[in-house]
Amino acid sequence: MSDPKIIIALDYPEAAPALVLVDKLQPSLCRLKVGKELFTATGPALLEQLMARGFEIFLDLKFHDIPNTTAQACKAAANLGVWMVNVHALGGRKMLEAASEAIANSAQRPKLIAVTLLTSMAQDDLADIGINVTPAEMVLRLATLARDSGLGGVVCSAQEAALLRKHCGTEFCLVTPGIRPARASLDDQSRVMTPQAALNEGASYLVIGRPITQATDPLQALLDINREIGVQV
Ligand code: C5P
Repeated sequence: MSDPKIIIALDYPEAAPALVLVDKLQPSLCRLKVGKELFTATGPALLEQLMARGFEIFLDLKFHDIPNTTAQACKAAANLGVWMVNVHALGGRKMLEAASEAIANSAQRPKLIAVTLLTSMAQDDLADIGINVTPAEMVLRLATLARDSGLGGVVCSAQEAALLRKHCGTEFCLVTPGIRPARASLDDQSRVMTPQAALNEGASYLVIGRPITQATDPLQALLDINREIGVQV
């Protein structure tokens, strides 16, 4: 089975425009990320429609709660049949271990990854909540905690990928947003990296939204990026 590197962010308020886009794509070329906005609006029904079309789903709900609640939410996600699900590493070791154990025996065990620090959090924001280390130190600490708690990887910026790859090993899954093909609009992203540069830094998968979803020809944009990263299609 193919292992597409591109995860397309379906950042839509409802199912209809998401399905219009998805019907232009092919599961051999990408996976799909469904986040809080779209999942809250559509629920599992949309996931079923996407999976019926052959797509694998990253359910990006960033669970963060007491260990039992987070574990049960991860189990529910596993029962939906998603390919990947995530939690906040800030939930701590007990929560991470409970989440990992909860899906260990699932019939279709999803990849479980953690959000380390939201990239919206700068040094000042950390100080506000009583954290007095740099964002980079915090990211490394939380990624290490996630790995040691049995998780398979983290979401991180491509700028952090090389450091995390070095510390967390070759098997650790690094999922990187903030990707922009050469010459693409930055939209509201600031620190971006091209798809190939992110893979060179050690990224395992690339989360890409608007460069594909807003393209005049989304399939062509996807094909172009796959070609840019050397995927034969
Ligand atoms: O359209 P764009 O490629 O900027 O979309 C990136 C996707 O990755 C969005 O769904 C965004 O919420 C998500 N994301 C991000 N930066 C993070 C974490 C997630 O852009 N640090």
